[in-house]
Amino acid sequence: MLDLEKIRAETPGIVLGTAGAYLHNAGAALMPQAALDAQKNHLDLEARIGGYAAATREAQRLDAVYASVARLINAAPDEIALVENATVAWQMAFYGLALTFKPGDRILTAQAEYAANYVALLQIAKRSGAVIEVVPNDATGQIDVAALERMIDSRVKLIAITWVPTNGGLANPAAAVGGVARAHNIPYLLDGCQAVGQMVVDVVQLGCDMFSATGRKFLRGPRGSGFLYVRRALLRNLEPPMIDHFAAPWVARDAYELRADARRFESWENNYAARAGLGAAVDYALSLGLPQIEARCRSLSARLRQGLGLVPGITVRDLGASPTAIVSFTHERFPAREIVTGALAAGITIGASDPDSTRLDAEARALPVLVRASPHYYNSEDEIDRLIGYIAGLKA
Ligand SMILES: Cc1ncc(COP(=O)(O)O)c(C=O)c1O
Repeated sequence: MLDLEKIRAETPGIVLGTAGAYLHNAGAALMPQAALDAQKNHLDLEARIGGYAAATREAQRLDAVYASVARLINAAPDEIALVENATVAWQMAFYGLALTFKPGDRILTAQAEYAANYVALLQIAKRSGAVIEVVPNDATGQIDVAALERMIDSRVKLIAITWVPTNGGLANPAAAVGGVARAHNIPYLLDGCQAVGQMVVDVVQLGCDMFSATGRKFLRGPRGSGFLYVRRALLRNLEPPMIDHFAAPWVARDAYELRADARRFESWENNYAARAGLGAAVDYALSLGLPQIEARCRSLSARLRQGLGLVPGITVRDLGASPTAIVSFTHERFPAREIVTGALAAGITIGASDPDSTRLDAEARALPVLVRASPHYYNSEDEIDRLIGYIAGLKA
């Protein structure tokens, strides 16, 4: 059981009373005190003794961030690269793989793919002649794994899907997709940006080769932090699309040598305060327990989904057999952004999600801008009910 009182007492936005009912964790969650302190302490040290000396003095602590992230997802520290966000993590893996794509190669993706990933697929398709094919959904709205299996042939060079899409509550059956990828030995890039921090993540069980994630969402870390996992067996064959002398030391006048570990996807300069904050956020989540976090996220979002579903005029837009802590909905009379602004004025923070962030899904379902409410384990039942009450009270 999570100690909600303690957790809330360790969350400055809640203690100060400045964040109100904060239900925007798929945007950027409230940091725990520990993540804030880790960053502030590092910045203070940089100010006192200089950035290079601070990194040297804190080297052990900063290096431990790799081990923390690895523990979070059941990987090894040398399979982790720390980067500035999930998009860079994903791009490093994707554009690295894409160096080998030829005309006619096939990239399989899913209906709810995120805009940042999809435009990169489009660019590479244009450049390389590879084709993008979208695996259809099953009746519940998640990727149809049987259809994926039927689409496999020797020209499939990548399966790239999003586990928890930016809206729509969905959790794609990422491990079942991994089963198909493993069975056919096809590289599998999983966007886990919105899964980490709210769900148990085990890259071995997921069967993915590459996994990208961000710090600021459900992990409760700082903005501008993220990570990439690359399975060790793939690492040696995956060239970063661009390198510097950290990723690949300049070993002779005409030669460089790529690092053997996943840090080949990093560059030399980094925001060490953000790294320290990410490490603290990951350690905090681990100390609470991801199974406990996941159970509470599911129970709070089920409460919200159920409550909103009973409000006249509300359509909950979520998909999938096992929805996550992202609740998307529309009101028959009020546009999403108006609801978000009104809720903020009433002390409730939620977000909106545009159709062009998941264009394939939005077009298939004719979705307008959605309201996106994303609770986290630190929310109280009362905060969930406040949002339901606010929505129920909206009058034209
Ligand atoms: C599914 C998904 N993938 C990737 C990203 C990109 O993450 P970042 O902004 O950290 O690059 C987002 C951001 O909203 C997302 O929703």
